[in-house]
Amino acid sequence: MQRGLGVCYYPEHWPETQWPEDAARMVAAGLTWVRIGEFAWSRLEPEPGVLTFDWLDRAIAVLANAGLKIVLGTPTATPPRWLLHKHPDMLAVDREGRPRKFGSRRHYCFSHLGFRDECRRITTLLADRYGRDPRICAWQLDNEYGCHDTVLSWSEAARTGFRDWLAQRYQSVDHLNRAWGNVFWSMDYGSFDDIDLPNLTVTEPNPAHVMAFRRYSSDQVTAFNRVQTAVLHRLSAAPLLHNYMGRVTEFDHFDTGADLDIATWDSYPMGFLLDRLDADEAHKATYLRQGDPDFQAFHHDLYRAVGRGRWWVIEQQPGPVNWAPWNPAPLPGMVRLWTWEAFAHGAEAVCYFRWRQAPFGQEQLHAGLLRPDSVAAPALAEAAEVARELQALPNVGTATARVALVFDYASQWAWETQPQGADFDYFRLVFSVYRGLRRAGLSVDIVPPDTDRLPAYDLVFAPGIMTLPDSFLTALSSFAGTVILGPRTNARTAEFALPDGLPPALPGFDLRITHLESLPPTEALPVNGGGNVRHWMEHLDGTVPSTLCLTSGLPLLASVGRQHYLAGWPDDSLLDRLIATACATEGIPRTPVPDGLRIRDSDTHRFYFNYGPHSVVFDGMALPAAGVAMRPL
Ligand code: GAL
Repeated sequence: MQRGLGVCYYPEHWPETQWPEDAARMVAAGLTWVRIGEFAWSRLEPEPGVLTFDWLDRAIAVLANAGLKIVLGTPTATPPRWLLHKHPDMLAVDREGRPRKFGSRRHYCFSHLGFRDECRRITTLLADRYGRDPRICAWQLDNEYGCHDTVLSWSEAARTGFRDWLAQRYQSVDHLNRAWGNVFWSMDYGSFDDIDLPNLTVTEPNPAHVMAFRRYSSDQVTAFNRVQTAVLHRLSAAPLLHNYMGRVTEFDHFDTGADLDIATWDSYPMGFLLDRLDADEAHKATYLRQGDPDFQAFHHDLYRAVGRGRWWVIEQQPGPVNWAPWNPAPLPGMVRLWTWEAFAHGAEAVCYFRWRQAPFGQEQLHAGLLRPDSVAAPALAEAAEVARELQALPNVGTATARVALVFDYASQWAWETQPQGADFDYFRLVFSVYRGLRRAGLSVDIVPPDTDRLPAYDLVFAPGIMTLPDSFLTALSSFAGTVILGPRTNARTAEFALPDGLPPALPGFDLRITHLESLPPTEALPVNGGGNVRHWMEHLDGTVPSTLCLTSGLPLLASVGRQHYLAGWPDDSLLDRLIATACATEGIPRTPVPDGLRIRDSDTHRFYFNYGPHSVVFDGMALPAAGVAMRPL
C-alpha cells in the first residue's frame, strides 16, 4: 500500500499567480495529495445557473502539472446566499425552533428535499466536467456531516419527512401507539399527521418518540449522502470519501459509510483534548501540547471499520487551532508523531489542514503549514521529515487485532434519551474500555454491532449496547473466545421498552436485572480483589454463577463459560484486572505501558508513541517526549 501525505488547499483564497509556487512547494515538501473545492460553491456558481468553473480548471491544471493527485470536494456544506432566495425554508432549525442563519456554514437541513435537488444539480455539474478526469483521484462529499451540531434539525421539512418515515416504519398509527406505549400520559395519536417533532414539550417527551426521531435524523444523513454518491458513482470511477469528525455520534457512520469507498476523518488532537474529552484538569495539563494519547487512535480504529479497511486522516492539525477553549502550540515533534500514528493504524494518507493560514474569515488564527506571509510554519518541516521517512518505510500493512471493541451509534442515542445519571454517556464508557486495552499495550479493532467478523477475534468487549442485534446474538452463540458484555446490555428493545422478562435478555443466560442504581461521582463500590464500580450498578438475579462480586457480596460478573455479563461500570483498576484475566484466558500477551506511551502493531512492526511530556525508557529504547519508534515484530 502506497502511503502518502497531502494538504488541504483553497486556490480561491489566493491570487492565481501564487498557485504555481504553492504547488511547487507542496511537492518539494514531499506531499502527493491536495484536497480542494469543498467550500467553493459561491465561486463556482456566483448566481443561479451562472457557472464559473474556469478558475477551477486552471487550479486543477496547476496542481496536477506539479505532480499532485487531487481530491475534489463537492461544495454542499456551504450553500451560497442566493440559494436561500430560492429555498428560504432550507435552513436547519434549532431545538428551540429558531432557524440557523446564513453567515457561516452547514446551515442546511438534511431533510430539505429542495436542497437535496440543488446538491444533486451542483454535484452533477462537477461530475460531468471532472468525473472522468484522471487528475481527480478521489472525491470528498460535503464536509463534516454533523459538525456544529447539525444532524438534528427541528424544521418543517424534518417534520414532514419524519411523518413519512414513521408511516413507512409502522404502517398504522395503532401499531405506532402500541410500540411507543402511548397509553402512558394519554399520548395516543389518531393519525401520522398528528405527530410532531419531539421538541418544546412541557417535560421530557416519550423516549420511544425521541429514539425514532434520532433514527430518522441519522437516516437523513445517509439519504443526503446517497444523493451525491448516486451521481458520482455514475459519472466517475474515482473513490468517494467523506471527512468525519472526532466524537460526532449523531448519525450512524457505518450506515453512511456503506455508500462510500473510503472513510476519512479530521484529527485535531489538541482541540479535542480541551473541547470534547471527559478528563480531569491534571490529565489535560499533562497532555496540553500533545493531545490525549488514546483519542486519535480510537477514531483511527473506528474509521478503519467505517471504511471497511480503507481510511485516511484528511485534515491533520498542524499547529494551534482557533476553536478550542484554549489553543496552545504542539510540542515539537507532535505533528510527526500524529502522522506516524495514523500510518501505524493503517491510514492510506494523511493530509494537513491547511496549506497557508488564512488572513481573513473565521479561522485567521488557525495554523497552516505556511504562515499567512508564506513563510514556513513549524509543521512544514515535520511533514517533510515524515515524507522522507515514508520513502524508506517497509511496506507496513494493517493486521487484524486479537481484541475487538464493539461501537454502536444507536446506543449513544439511547443513552442520551434516558441517561438515568447526570454524567452518563455511552461514548465515555466505550472510550474508557478502549483506554484500558491500550494501557495493556493491546492493538484493538473497533467493529459495528452487526459485524460478521466476530470469529476473527479472541476477546470481544461490547459494553453498553442498549439493543443487541439478533445477528450479534447468533454470532455469540458460536463464539469460542471471551466476550464481556454489559453494563446496560439489551436494556431496551428497539422501540425503547424494557424487554420481556427484564434485561439483559441474553439467550443461555438465566439472568435478570431486578433493579439498578446510578451513582454520583463521589460514590465508589469496592470490588473483591481490588478496583471499584462507579456511576452505575445493576442488581442481578438468576442462576448464572457470579465469578466476581462487590465486597458487599453483590454479584458483579455473571459468567457462562467464557461469556461474561458485567453488571457495573468499572473504574480503571477494575478494568485493568478484567482485561488481564481475559487476556490470560485467551493467551493474549499484554504489554502494560507507562503513562503516555502507546503501542500499535501493524502486520510487520510494533510502533511506539510517546505522548508523555517526558522521555521514557521502554523495551530497551529511550523515547523522548513526542518520540516515535518502530521495530520489526
Ligand atoms: C474542520 C473543518 C475545516 C476547518 C477545520 C479547522 O472541522 O473541516 O474546514 O474548519 O476544522 O480546524
